[in-house]
Amino acid sequence: MIEEIKSHIAEVESFSSDDFELVEEFRIKYLGKKGILNKFFSSFKKIPNEEKKEFGQMVNTLKTKAQEKVETLKNAIEAQLEDKGVYGDLLRPGQAIEVGARHPISVVKNQIIEIFSNIGFNVSEGPEIEDDWHNFTALNLPEHHPARDMQDTFFVQTNPEKYLLRTHTSGVQVRYMEENKPPIRTISPGRVYRNEDISARSHCLFHQVEGLYVDKGVSFADLKQTLLYFTKQLFGNSKIRLRPSYFPFTEPSAEVDIYWGLETEIDHRITKGTGWLEIMGCGMVDPNVLENCKIDPEEYSGFAFGMGIERIAMLLYQIEDIRMFYENDLRFLNQFKSAL
Ligand code: PHE
Repeated sequence: MIEEIKSHIAEVESFSSDDFELVEEFRIKYLGKKGILNKFFSSFKKIPNEEKKEFGQMVNTLKTKAQEKVETLKNAIEAQLEDKGVYGDLLRPGQAIEVGARHPISVVKNQIIEIFSNIGFNVSEGPEIEDDWHNFTALNLPEHHPARDMQDTFFVQTNPEKYLLRTHTSGVQVRYMEENKPPIRTISPGRVYRNEDISARSHCLFHQVEGLYVDKGVSFADLKQTLLYFTKQLFGNSKIRLRPSYFPFTEPSAEVDIYWGLETEIDHRITKGTGWLEIMGCGMVDPNVLENCKIDPEEYSGFAFGMGIERIAMLLYQIEDIRMFYENDLRFLNQFKSAL
């Protein structure tokens, strides 16, 4: 028996391999449950007493040598794998978790909401699939009114009724006036759709924020002051001008320009050499619209305004092509990580 152990010790000592599976086979052969060592341990009882001591020592030596051999060989194999770069550099820094960013449309929308909520405007929302009444008729745009052509519309044909993809969020304001009594101060952000060719300047879908203020004695001066406050907050710019314009739902109506400046070549290009940039439409709510919403125009008056979020974002961030907003190119979106 002792001789047998000795030959195993010799075998263990001479064993070498850089193949992980062979080393594992070797481990199982000696150290596994049904391995050689366990066989020797279980025959311990049968060994005559005077040989027990030597036998025990020999088996222990065999065990230690086998364990050491397995460990050394496995370590060597692992070190080799590491050298080959299989595990790479185990001390390298971990992979950073990618932090997402808000979409620039959301960033600008939130900014606009905050500026108006600071002066008491709440936020109202409505459906993107709208009916004719809320998108057109209630807003002083009866059927066959030529001004309907100002906004090319996507219709959703569901006989006998006619629905459409809203062309502006003014319909939300109609809904709000139908459901709430003045004083009303609300802004309505949302997605709108127009049947327009897609280009760098326009898209068939975009986003708007429209505002509405209805109370006793609301005047054009209030409108102008509110817009002045808004442009100061958003652009840090205090110079605006109102040009007469036409919207069916407001009377009088105006378009709002902010003074952008004419210092750089870019200023010249984006303001077409005038220094002024158009940013929104506005006006005093037409009495017909108030009446349509069951608000007495003799008692109340109001102003409304509406702007495209993309246009504002393009100005704030100097984005040249509106299509960038919808392509979800990470190289574009990642630039807004620092924005709130
Ligand atoms: N609804 C108009 C548009 O979509 C914007 C607007 C709103 C103009 C309110 C005046 C008053 O262009």
